[in-house]
Amino acid sequence: MSAKVIDGTKVAARVRDEIAVAVAEMKEKYNYTPGLATVLVGEDPASATYVRSKQRMCERLGIRSVGHKLPADASQEEVVALVARLNADPEVNGILVQLPMPKHINEEAVLNTIDLEKDVDGFHPVNIGRLAMKGRDPLFIPCTPAGCMELLADAGVPTKGAEAVIVGRSNIVGLPMAMLLQKADATVTICHSRTKDLTEHLERADIVVAAIGWAEMIKGDMLKPGCAVIDVGINRVDDASNERGYKLVGDVEYDSAAEVAGAITPVPGGVGPMTIAMLMKNTLRAAEIALAKR
Ligand code: GUN
Repeated sequence: MSAKVIDGTKVAARVRDEIAVAVAEMKEKYNYTPGLATVLVGEDPASATYVRSKQRMCERLGIRSVGHKLPADASQEEVVALVARLNADPEVNGILVQLPMPKHINEEAVLNTIDLEKDVDGFHPVNIGRLAMKGRDPLFIPCTPAGCMELLADAGVPTKGAEAVIVGRSNIVGLPMAMLLQKADATVTICHSRTKDLTEHLERADIVVAAIGWAEMIKGDMLKPGCAVIDVGINRVDDASNERGYKLVGDVEYDSAAEVAGAITPVPGGVGPMTIAMLMKNTLRAAEIALAKR
């Protein structure tokens, strides 16, 4: 079997086009422009790159973005004070605090401060709590898991009654992904670094979401034939044949998995482009919430 490739680049472009249209309409009808504030604490190069891409995407779609940078030794009080200022700023619809922050800052304390209606990352404990509960809906869903759900829907993968195995239990991806699939009527198993026999779980999974940050750890012979594989991993591995000296691979060994799976996301070009597209969608939603209150 050769799996159908789930093209995240294409799906993200479609989502972005829809957002650009809605943003232009909002400007025309209400003279209102959505605004995103990003907060970057410290100098981590990967985080700086992610934040820049988010800001550039705002520009492309007609969303205002304001970047705030604090030094690596900024105190927790300074970060909380900045978030409080952004909460009070009517020009700011969404607040994105890039994670991880330096170790001396209590992430929970900062995320707790973000106004629920500006929580475009969906990381506020109340939004996560609502995601976890039956019959409740969060205002915002975390961007990467929301992007994974969009990809599954686009590929026509049924979730109702499906066996779903999430590999990885992070607050940003694994945990909210499990809650979303559970809300979508899948039977969900969360596996992680201490799971005794990962293959035993994967072998019966109709949907596999790999988000463990371990290059190519899931191989084709661990999968159920015909399953859908969503690979969230982005890992650098040495590659002398590449002019950069490295290449990007997922948490799934693509070639062997594509032989067995029914559908699979590539790395790059799978989940990656979806995260930013869903952030833009959440920012538009935050603007709609603010506009409805004017
Ligand atoms: N760090 C890695 N992924 C994310 C994300 O989706 N949002 C934020 N704020 N930080 C991240």
